[in-house]
Amino acid sequence: MSDSPLWRPGRIGPMELKNRVIRSATNEHLSQPDGQLTTTWMDTLVELAENEVGLVITGHMSVDRQQRSDQGQTVLDEQTDLGLLHETACRVHAAGGKIVAQLNHGGKKAPETVNGHPPKLPADFSLEELDQIVGKYRYAAMLCRRAGFDGVQIHNAYGYLLASFLNHVDNRRTDGYGGSVENRFRLTGRIIREVRRTCGPDFAILTKVGGNGYGSLHRLLELYEISGADGVEICTSDFDPRIWASRSFCMEELLRAWEGVDLPISLVGGVFSQKAAEHILEAGVPFVSFSRALLCQPDFAARLKRGEAEESPCTTCNQCYQSFRRQFVRCIQHTSPIPQLKKVFGSSENT
Ligand SMILES: Cc1cc2nc3c(=O)[nH]c(=O)nc-3n(C[C@H](O)[C@H](O)[C@H](O)COP(=O)(O)O)c2cc1C
Ligand code: SF4
Repeated sequence: MSDSPLWRPGRIGPMELKNRVIRSATNEHLSQPDGQLTTTWMDTLVELAENEVGLVITGHMSVDRQQRSDQGQTVLDEQTDLGLLHETACRVHAAGGKIVAQLNHGGKKAPETVNGHPPKLPADFSLEELDQIVGKYRYAAMLCRRAGFDGVQIHNAYGYLLASFLNHVDNRRTDGYGGSVENRFRLTGRIIREVRRTCGPDFAILTKVGGNGYGSLHRLLELYEISGADGVEICTSDFDPRIWASRSFCMEELLRAWEGVDLPISLVGGVFSQKAAEHILEAGVPFVSFSRALLCQPDFAARLKRGEAEESPCTTCNQCYQSFRRQFVRCIQHTSPIPQLKKVFGSSENT
């Protein structure tokens, strides 16, 4: 309904958003086999903006073609089709939305079957390699800026490289990148500052972090603020084993962790109805993000706005993690296979 707080404008750093609805990064798996962007990838993002998603965050895009997480993952580097990236930004803007690219490095989740060499943990990187990683993030962010994107999101969740650095179980380094939370944050902090330095103040820098905050959510939020990030998306459901807490994450805990931190946040995880989304906004959280509800129905937000639906038909079966490879559909409720998925995964060893 149009008087819902979901449809009020909001601001994240330099981005003026038409409403409070964010599409949380969701791997489209729609690159060419070598990571190049495709028109199907672009159309998927544009469709969301055309259907009342105020901020579209792309699925994770690899800053390093040697560290991809699967054969359908897009890559941002010297070989990226800048024209298609630019067209994507223009079409999202024409639909009234904003677009941010999620930047990622596979780390321990970059399989040998995809990259031809074993995945790496924080201790496997030399200092020189860490400098190179900062450079790759900077380069990817500059490409996005040149293409007209509104910003980038640095992926700090779900066990990929930067999350591994934050997690003291994965991070066994004994130098300035391991140990205290400030040290484990150092690589992310360097990346945020470097992106800010090269892309300027009118380019949004967001992050995405797990709700357990690796045991230090409040401190991490402070560190994001100190480093110059513009906003943080917090996942309220974990896909990683919950190593820090045996009870589930709750809103009160999050609001306490956010106290005194001057950064807008968004919550993602398990929001499948207008009521649940409004509950989050009414608790004082400025934005709400959706993944599976929009995978299931790319026009879910438009349906809510038109008053045609109050709940997503997503059954949380979680088959979307595999169905794109096996049936070449993104959600098992979809009946038309996507030819690009077949092109990428049809003959893959991993299917
Ligand atoms: C198929 C699929 C792909 C995903 N890909 C990404 C991704 O690329 N980056 C990311 O940060 N999270 C990714 N996620 C996690 C979602 O962004 C989100 O945090 C999680 O699904 C919880 O939100 P939901 O309950 O609204 O689905 C993915 C989730 C699904 C189902
Ligand atoms: S596959 Fe299942 S969990 Fe995924 S979007 Fe579809 S209904 Fe939801």
